[in-house]
Amino acid sequence: MKGIVLAGGLGTRLFPLTKITNKHLLPVYNKPMIYYPIQTLVEAGIKDILIVTGGNNAGDFLRLLGNGKEFGLKHLNYTYQEGEGGIAEALGLAEYFAAGEKIVVILGDNLIQHGISKSVAAFQRQDRGARILLKEVPEPQRFGVAEVKGDHIEGIAEKPKVPKSNLAVTGIYMYDDRVFEIIKTLKPSNRGELEITDVNNAYIAQGTMTFEILEGWWTDAGTFESLYRATCLIAETCSE
Ligand code: G1P
Repeated sequence: MKGIVLAGGLGTRLFPLTKITNKHLLPVYNKPMIYYPIQTLVEAGIKDILIVTGGNNAGDFLRLLGNGKEFGLKHLNYTYQEGEGGIAEALGLAEYFAAGEKIVVILGDNLIQHGISKSVAAFQRQDRGARILLKEVPEPQRFGVAEVKGDHIEGIAEKPKVPKSNLAVTGIYMYDDRVFEIIKTLKPSNRGELEITDVNNAYIAQGTMTFEILEGWWTDAGTFESLYRATCLIAETCSE
């Protein structure tokens, strides 16, 4: 399985921090943010990794990460997303890299306490389709929110005003190679982006989406509050 870290976007919610650098290069305690999702993939045994970046300062990723030696990697792959087309558009740029293999996608601002090895192994055994990781959160309206009945996922709403559950869709997604055909059918949302939630709902409609609830803490780091929380979770100075 191959891994993809999505690290584009303008990070406007963190302005002015992101005026002079990319969100994913900002510090979370003692490391640049992007180190954590790369580490999550590497610890799950994924060694063939693509970084999709964009916006300003894309060259700094190369200077920071090089060939991934710090992570025990032999090489890293990079690609560049022009403009602000959304997470699904960024993922579409990985089609050539994926070359028909299953992929694990992680958003560059998503940090977790434990690893994803078991989830990756479960998806490896899954014949086809997709797998997502959910997490109970106090403010689900900030995220994609899953509606779940027993073992079945009914659908996902992107940042709903009235969430149907407290289960956020984390930014860790596993897909088979059909994901790229799905992305080609997407239309931009109200915020003008190709939404990853639309990709996931397409798999749900096909009946090939599985899910699990992530153990341990999970946070994004794309707002001042969540960046602060990420830092104190890593530094172990705050409780979950
Ligand atoms: C994105 C996704 C959302 C998901 C979240 C996880 O939101 O659109 O469904 O729950 O990442 O971090 P964004 O951070 O781009 O607003």
